This record gives sequence, structure tokens and C-alpha cells, in this order.
Amino acid sequence: MWDDFQARLDALDQQSRLRKLTARSASGVSLSLADGTPLLNFGSNDYLGLAHQPVPGNHAVEQSAKRLADSDACQAGSTASALVCGWTEHHQTLADKIAALEGTQSAVVFPTGFAACMGTIATLCGPNDLILSDQLNHASLIDGCRLSRAQCVVYPHRDVDFIDDHLTQHRQAYQRVWIVSDAVFSMDGHLAPLPQLVQISKTHDADLIVDEAHGTGVLGDHLSGACEALGVKDSVHIRIGTLSKALGSQGGFIVCPQIVADYLVNHCRTLIYSTALNLPAVHAAIAAVDSLPDCQQRRQHVCGLAAQFRRFLAETRWSPAAQLATTLPEGGSGTESITALETGVPIIPIMTGSDVATIAAAESMRSLGLYVPAIRPPTVSEGQGRLRVSLSALHSQADLQRLIDAVKPL
Ligand SMILES: Cc1ncc(COP(=O)(O)O)c(C=O)c1O
Repeated sequence: MWDDFQARLDALDQQSRLRKLTARSASGVSLSLADGTPLLNFGSNDYLGLAHQPVPGNHAVEQSAKRLADSDACQAGSTASALVCGWTEHHQTLADKIAALEGTQSAVVFPTGFAACMGTIATLCGPNDLILSDQLNHASLIDGCRLSRAQCVVYPHRDVDFIDDHLTQHRQAYQRVWIVSDAVFSMDGHLAPLPQLVQISKTHDADLIVDEAHGTGVLGDHLSGACEALGVKDSVHIRIGTLSKALGSQGGFIVCPQIVADYLVNHCRTLIYSTALNLPAVHAAIAAVDSLPDCQQRRQHVCGLAAQFRRFLAETRWSPAAQLATTLPEGGSGTESITALETGVPIIPIMTGSDVATIAAAESMRSLGLYVPAIRPPTVSEGQGRLRVSLSALHSQADLQRLIDAVKPL
């Protein structure tokens, strides 16, 4: 009955691409496998180290922990979708705090970042529209494009000239045009050329949707993301984020003008037909947003480690510049700031190429007590396998040295 499934799984196995859920326990940057093997974790997206709250000495977090102990906050499930009765005063508090952080009229909280990305694009973009979507965009954006029924053109990674040319030729054929991009690309650590995208969107009367999943909590003076860091926050009217990475909780959000929020609340299926975000996640996210002003040191620490690791790689055969063909426009407005900011992004790929080489590299890390995830197709393109190193504020200088020592003999 399931023979065709088995055949496909066998084929994946033969290609070294079979994936399995593996039970692990994690605490800080320590990971423990089911057999008790301890590993130093370089695989989580807990960039600020907030996932293991409460943080001692952090007033805002302690307050939130107290709120959690109050009887109404002990409820785990939100029991219904946001429009029925799942949206509590705590969800509203979280949405208000996110809107204040982001400087927008409104914020809407979703059960996951994936639901926020996919649902927003599928809802806002329609059959008479054109979407231009970066080749390396996250799966949640890609699936949103597919569901929207808009015409979708995938542009070469960060190639603003391609977008400009395409719109010069075809803009008139569409009602609306949307440019959709990750702010920080999750498998490469690249930044989108946001100032140029803003410029092009103004020239061609297009709207920009940016996914700040890996920017929130890491970039910008107020840690609100890459748009803030590159000075284009006010020009990117629709920004999506996740509560699940630097903010150390779970869930997603969109920040946007009130009219867009109202439209989503009335039309977005991943919001309307899904149970609202659970309350422990809401409280953890409130605590994390409250604690952001106190997180500058954490941010500086993790970005400093990232810069140091990149400097090390630059002198090895794993040099990111040598390994990754980037199409960042030379000398375009903001290019220098993008390159400078990228140095500190705590996602750093070590390009290994083939599946076999990628798995061998991950095994070599593991034999030295380090967990660095092996990323292979279909997450990345054929031949673009890599170890994806993600750093956390909880990593120490000694932890980074262990990683460097492990990479040297690769
Ligand atoms: C770029 C990007 N967008 C969206 C998401 C989805 O966010 P979440 O994990 O909160 O569902 C992810 C998560 O992997 C991501 O990397």
C-alpha cells in the first residue's frame, strides 16, 4: 500500500539524504543525544541566548515569570483561533509591544513564523499581481507565493538589476507588484540589498515584503532587524518576523499599517483557521521583547564571535568569499553597510559541496563533541551542501576556539 513512499525513502537513503527525527535534550549551548553523548551545540537559532529564560538579574524577565505564575497565565493552550476567543489581553500586549519596537501602526501575532510568512503573502498577493521572489527565500515565503496564485518570478539571489530590468519591461501588465525577500538569508547569512530594493520598489510602484526572521534581535540599534540597521524601516511597510529565533520563544508576527492588519484579520487563513499562539509562548515573547534594551551586550558578544569566525574562515580554504558566489551589486547605495553588517551575522556556512562531503564534515565535528548541522538538498541547491554554523550569545570564546580547532583539519 505504501510501496511508492518506501521506494522514495529508499532513494533518499541511497543519496545520504534520509532525514530522521532524533530525540535530543538541550540546555543553553549543550546538547545531549538520546544515548547521553554531550555535544556543544552550533545548530540553534537562539542567537541572544534567551530561549532558556528566566534570565537571572533581568527585571523584565522576572516580571514576566511572575505573570506566568499568576493563575490566569498558567493556562497553556489558547483554546481557539484568535477571532473566536484565542486572542487574550496578553496577545494584545505582545502585539502592542512588537508594534512599538518596530514603529508601526499595527502588529498581528501568528501561531508560527511560517504561518505568518505563508499566510501574509498568500493573502495579500492576488491573481492579477506579479511577485518577484529571491531565489534563496525561505520555504514559508515560497509556499506563500505558490498559494497566492499571483504570477511568480524567481530572481537570481540579490540581483537587483534583474528586478529592475524585469519591471521596466513588464510592470504594466500587473495590478500590483510585490518584491519578496528574506532580510537575512537563513542558510547563507547574507543580507538582502534592502536599500536598493526600496529604491526599485519606489521607481516601479511595487510593494516590498521583507522577512526579518533572522534579523530581529540581532541587527539595528533597537535590535528590530536588518531594515532598521540599513535605515529603511520606514520604507518597508510590511515586515514579517518570528518569535522563535533570537527572541527565544515560539510564534510569528507581521508589522504593517493598520489597513493591512485589518485585511489579514479578515482574510488570512493561517491566522483565522488556526489556534492562536499558546500562552507560555506569548509570555516568553513579551519577556524577550521587554528585555531587548538589556541585550546589547549579548548582541555585541555574538556578533563579535561571528566576525571572528568569519576572519578565521577567510584565511582557510573555507573562505566564504571564495565559496559563495554573491551577486550583491557593486557600489550600489548601502553596499558598504551591508557588507559591514554581514560580518557580524551569526549564521556562517562552511561550504562542503556534495552530500558525502557534508556528512563526513558533520561526523568529524561530532567526533570532536560538536554539533554542527549538515545542510543538504532540498534545503539548498544541488552541490551546495554545507555545515551551517549558528552562534549564540551563550557561546564563550573557548567554545568558538573549539569550533575553530575542529574546522582546521577538515
Ligand atoms: C527565514 C525564515 N522565515 C520564516 C521561518 C519560519 O519561522 P518559524 O520557525 O517561527 O515558523 C524561518 C524558520 O526557519 C526562517 O528561517
